[in-house]
Amino acid sequence: MSPVTPPPTPRFDIYALIHKGIRAALVDALGHAGRLDWTEHDEVNRLVAASQDLALLCRAHVAHEEHFVHRAMEARRPGSARQACADHRGHVADIDRLETLALELAHLPTLRREAAAKALYAHLAHFTADNLAHMAHEEREHNRVLWETHDDEELVALEAAIVASQTPEEARLALRWMLPNLAPAERHHFMAGMREGMPPEVFRDTLASTAGLLDARNALKLHDALGIARRPLDYVGMP
Ligand SMILES: [Fe+2]
Repeated sequence: MSPVTPPPTPRFDIYALIHKGIRAALVDALGHAGRLDWTEHDEVNRLVAASQDLALLCRAHVAHEEHFVHRAMEARRPGSARQACADHRGHVADIDRLETLALELAHLPTLRREAAAKALYAHLAHFTADNLAHMAHEEREHNRVLWETHDDEELVALEAAIVASQTPEEARLALRWMLPNLAPAERHHFMAGMREGMPPEVFRDTLASTAGLLDARNALKLHDALGIARRPLDYVGMP
C-alpha cells in the first residue's frame, strides 16, 4: 500500500471572518428593504439606521483592505490588487449613493416614500450582487497571491494591524455582524484571540456587549469553549 499523503495544512484566510459578517449585513439590509412598509415610521427608521451602519461597515472595510492588504500585495506582486482597487472606487460611489437614498427616504413624507423605498431596494440589490462577486474574487485571487508571497505569521500580523486601527464604532459593527454569522469553532477561536489581546475587564465588557447577538444554544457553546461558568439563567430559551 502506498502511504497516504496528509492533507495540506489550511492557510490563514484573512478574508474569511469579516466577509461572512459583511455578506450577512448586506443580505439582511436587502431583505429588510424588500419587506419595508414605508407607511410605518419605526420600520423606515430601522432601515435607514441599518443602511447607515452598512455604509460605515463597508466604507471601513474598503479602507482597511486598501491601506493594509493591497499595499502588502502590491509590495511583493505589483499589479496584483489592480482589479480590486478599481472595484473599490465603484463601491465608494455606491456607498455614498446608499447613504443619500437612505436619507432621502428618512426625510420624505409618508405619501411620497414609495418611489424612494423602491429606489433604495434596487440600489441595495445592485450593491449586494456587486459586493458578493467582489468578495469571491478577493477570496479566490487575492488569497492565492497572499499565500504565495506571505507566510501565515505575516498574514496574522496584517490582520492584527487592521483590528488595532479600527475605531470603536467600526469594531462594534464588525463584531455585531461577524459574531452571529461564524461557525461555532470560528467564533470561539476569534473570541479567544480577542481575550489574549486585551485586559480581562475589557474582554468581560466586550463579551457582555455581545449579549443578544447569539441564540441561547450558541451563547452556551461559546461560554463553554471559553471556560466561562454557566448560570441557571443561561438555560432559559434552550430547546
Ligand atoms: Fe474589497
